[in-house]
Amino acid sequence: MGFWQEAFAAVKENDPAARYNLEIILTYPGVKALAAHKISHFLWQHDIKLLARVHAQFWRFLTQIEIHPGAEIANGVFIDHGSGLVIGETAVVETGVKLYHGVTLGGTGKDTGKRHPSVRRGALISAHSQLLGPIEIGEYARVGASAVVTKDVPKRVTVVGIPAKIVRVHGGDTPERNCAQLERERHVSFYDHMGGI
Ligand SMILES: CC(C)(COP(=O)(O)OP(=O)(O)OC[C@H]1O[C@@H](n2cnc3c(N)ncnc32)[C@H](O)[C@@H]1OP(=O)(O)O)[C@@H](O)C(=O)NCCC(=O)NCCS
Repeated sequence: MGFWQEAFAAVKENDPAARYNLEIILTYPGVKALAAHKISHFLWQHDIKLLARVHAQFWRFLTQIEIHPGAEIANGVFIDHGSGLVIGETAVVETGVKLYHGVTLGGTGKDTGKRHPSVRRGALISAHSQLLGPIEIGEYARVGASAVVTKDVPKRVTVVGIPAKIVRVHGGDTPERNCAQLERERHVSFYDHMGGI
């Protein structure tokens, strides 16, 4: 499927209020922002960087969604509402990901090179959550509204709060023990990655 078919399918799957394709084009800022990003990203990749950034800013003005032209965003991503959504230059967003208003896929200001999150297939990133640094959000993970996430999140878990902690393991047979265990592993791997404490 191409960009438009996947965009329409993603909206209809996630929003029962969506009725037909023309309505989706006219009334879903997320679809417009993602379509415009295809063009900004093309310009960025072909080293027409200033025009890419100006184009992205123009669409930011119209949609209130700011996507850096360098960000890699797959087809089939769903942005609901979208106001205040910010996606940084080195972010990666895979297919099936859902992003709500007020979300930041941003940097901490401490990293260079890859400095924004990678959000894997099917993950749900709830309203106003802040995902900071070159972290990985695993497939089908759920990030609760207003969470602040600065460490990797394993696949198929729910994290909530500030700093975000694992509160559900989807599909585990003993969820409580799994949460604590996964949270410990996550903590250890974060500090290993930072070079110890
Ligand atoms: C996180 C979320 C996706 C639910 O995921 P889930 O895996 O079904 O998790 P649950 O609802 O079982 O909640 C797990 C625990 O976290 C708590 N929790 C859920 N969301 C939370 C949040 N945003 N902040 C703090 N705690 C939260 C629940 O109360 C529950 O606590 P308990 O174990 O003490 O009962 C959902 O709560 C959420 O935040 N949705 C927001 C979606 C959104 O942005 N909507 C905007 C539409 S306009």
